Amino acid sequence: MSNTLIAPSILAADFANLQRDIEMINNSEADWFHIDIMDGVFVPNISFGMPVLEAISRHAKKNIDVHLMIVDPDRYIKTFAILGANILTVHYEACTHLHRTLQAIKAEGMKAGIALNPHTNVDLLEDVINDIDMVCLMSVNPGFGGQSFIENTYTKIERLKALIIRKNASTIIEIDGGVTDKNAKQLVDAGANVLVAGNFVFKAKNPTQTIADMKKITSI
Ligand code: DX5
Ligand code: ZN
Repeated sequence: MSNTLIAPSILAADFANLQRDIEMINNSEADWFHIDIMDGVFVPNISFGMPVLEAISRHAKKNIDVHLMIVDPDRYIKTFAILGANILTVHYEACTHLHRTLQAIKAEGMKAGIALNPHTNVDLLEDVINDIDMVCLMSVNPGFGGQSFIENTYTKIERLKALIIRKNASTIIEIDGGVTDKNAKQLVDAGANVLVAGNFVFKAKNPTQTIADMKKITSI
């Protein structure tokens, strides 16, 4: 039996009722808050920034998993640590000196995550896998919630899992984009440890129940 972590993505929350939605997650079986920061350069969309994260941090009672979809993320590592990020994920495609970035994130007391776009091969992480706490496999092209899941993700998870085992690393695998009750179990069976879900949770009639159902589906 696995303990899969569920990380609702705040991008799909109602920003006019943000405190309500944060309390919903606090009182649910969800494990983490997933926070998507987009700069309009690395991805063709702008989400929200520091003041909003600062407000979320004040109310969130669970770990904060920050996913930076920004160019040159090294500029803001310290800022996100101060803002309360527990896990800071940067994109492989946005880092020139990935090993240095990983060390800088950990030096600020956070767990270090690396996200891979759908086209980026998992084997590119071979020489740094032992330094990565979490790999976030994008199962949609980053930039927007509510997109459909890319099926090739399953084989990427399997190949990444094999790399982690071969290198004797303790890296966990997060899946981000288009996650629903239809693919959750298969993702976990392939080797996923954390499932991000935005629209599937927040657009549901009963988000709290939807989170509980996801926990159940993924623990069988
Ligand atoms: C996409 C973001 C995702 C997104 C997931 O760029 O990184 O975290 O919010 O949303 P859904 O689950 O709706 O695909
Ligand atoms: Zn994300």
